[in-house]
Amino acid sequence: MKQTVIRNGENWVKTIFAEDSTGHDWYHTDRVRKNAVHIAQKEGGDIFICELAALLHDAADDKFNESEAAGIEKVSSWLDSQEITSEEKETVLEVIRTVSFKGGNNEDPVSTEGKIVQDADRLDALGAVGIARTFMYAGAKGDPMHLPEERPREQMTKEEYRQGRSTAVNHFYEKLLKLRDLMKTKTGRELAEERHEYLEAFLHQFKEEWAGNR
Ligand code: ADP
Ligand code: NI
Repeated sequence: MKQTVIRNGENWVKTIFAEDSTGHDWYHTDRVRKNAVHIAQKEGGDIFICELAALLHDAADDKFNESEAAGIEKVSSWLDSQEITSEEKETVLEVIRTVSFKGGNNEDPVSTEGKIVQDADRLDALGAVGIARTFMYAGAKGDPMHLPEERPREQMTKEEYRQGRSTAVNHFYEKLLKLRDLMKTKTGRELAEERHEYLEAFLHQFKEEWAGNR
């Protein structure tokens, strides 16, 4: 039963992210799953594949595993314990492989489901929640909040993106503000608009306060 697989997925992922304090807690996964189902309903993607891939996307992420391959392997073994077809399993893994941003170094998703889940994840990097997650992540990584003299990085490898020192504010320029124009679905683009504007308003106010103008 597909419902059972989804339920099992929720329970498995909750145990992995129960204690997360990097902005990737269970509620992030839950929002991404809800966004993915919503976009799939509008865009006509396979809802089961989108929901399952969204639930598992961070369980496989290289940030939380020894390597990209190890993360995929972990999710692959878990999928083997579930009642799904091998075709469904392969489709879910393919979607998960193309979700992550990695400093702009990922392969673009080809399937509708891949585009939907990527957009669903990116929406949660925008808006008020996206801002809160960015500061949580920067704090967890040990990055400073803001160093006004430090320019955002332009081009970077995946390793530089992951390991190199950045700041919470520079992450807006290195990733968050780029996302609106990288959305792959019409629904995702529409939903990104308001959240993107919120990021710009936030940065504006932040810099005004920093400069002592307010
Ligand atoms: P992905 O997992 O898609 O490759 P990220 O590594 O950017 O993307 O992780 C997702 C979220 O984690 C981002 O939207 C952001 O909120 C936060 N994050 C990731 N890297 C950083 C960073 N260097 N500084 C601040 N926040 C970050
Ligand atoms: Ni995510």
